[in-house]
Amino acid sequence: MERLQLEVDGLKLSILKGKDAPIVYIHCSGCDATLWQHQLEAIGGYAVDLPNHGESCKAEIYSIDDYAYFVAKATQKLLGKAVIAGHSLGGAVAQKIYVDYKKVVKALILVGTGARLRVLPEILEGLKTKPEETAKMVAEMGCVDKDIAESYAKIFAERAGVMLKDLQLCDKFDLLDKYKSGELVIDVPTLIIVGEDDKLTPLKYAQFFHQHIPNSKLVVIPDAGHMVMLEKPEEVNKAIKEFLAAIED
Ligand code: COA
Repeated sequence: MERLQLEVDGLKLSILKGKDAPIVYIHCSGCDATLWQHQLEAIGGYAVDLPNHGESCKAEIYSIDDYAYFVAKATQKLLGKAVIAGHSLGGAVAQKIYVDYKKVVKALILVGTGARLRVLPEILEGLKTKPEETAKMVAEMGCVDKDIAESYAKIFAERAGVMLKDLQLCDKFDLLDKYKSGELVIDVPTLIIVGEDDKLTPLKYAQFFHQHIPNSKLVVIPDAGHMVMLEKPEEVNKAIKEFLAAIED
C-alpha cells in the first residue's frame, strides 16, 4: 500500500492506495482510511482520510455536504469516475456525492449505513461528558468481535472530539423522505452490505435501501456488527469482488 497526497482547493487530502481498482472508500465517524485495510489489500482502490482525520489537513466542515465536496473532487482527480464505497458516515457522504456530483459515480457500495442516521442522545452527550466510557459503549455496540471492540474503544476515546463532530453531522443527515417520496431514485448499480447484528445502523436501514434502490443487491453478513469490513473481511471482499465483476460485464 502507498500513501498519496492530493490537493483539493489548496487543502491536502491523504489517501491510502492499494493496487489499481476503480473504487474510492470513505470511512466512518472517528475513523480513517485504515478502516478499509483488508479491502485495499485484497481488492485495491483508494481510501480517503476525510479532512480532520488521519493524515489529511484540518478544514472547516459544517455538514456531510462538505465532506462530499472534497471526496467528489478527489475522485474526479484520481479516477474521473469511480465506484464510491462508504461506511456509516461515509455512506452518508457517498449518498450526497451521488445527489450532488453524480458524474463521478459509477456505482455505489453502502456498508453499515442508512438514509437517515439519527444518533442516540446518550452517545452525543456522553462523548462530551464521559468520553472514555462512551467510546467503549459505542465500540461495544459496533462490534460483535471483542478484540476489535477493545481496540476501537481506545481509538474512539483518543478521537472523542472528532467523533462527536462527525456524529453530530450524522444526526442531521436525512434523505429518508426523499427516498420515500421518489424524489431521490438512485439509478446506478448499488451494493448494500450490513452485519446481521449491527446495532448502530440496523438491518432495517439496509432493507430500506434495498426496497428503494431499483438496481441494488443486499448482502447480509452473519455474525458481524457495524464494523463488518473489519470483522468479516473475506465475506465483505467476496461481495465487493462479485459486484465489481457484475458491473464490468
Ligand atoms: N432507514 C430506514 N428507516 C429508518 C432509518 C433509516 N436509515 N432511520 C430511521 N428509520 C425509521 C425508524 O426505524 C423509525 O421507524 P418506526 O417508527 O417504524 O420504528 C422511524 O424511521 C423514526 O426513526 P428515527 O428518526 O431514527 O427516530 P427514533 O426516535 O425512532 O430513534 C434513535 C432515534 C437515535 C434511537 C435511533 O435512530 C437509533 O436507535 N439509532 C441507532 C443508534 C445510533 O446512535 N447510531 C449511530 C448511527 S451513525
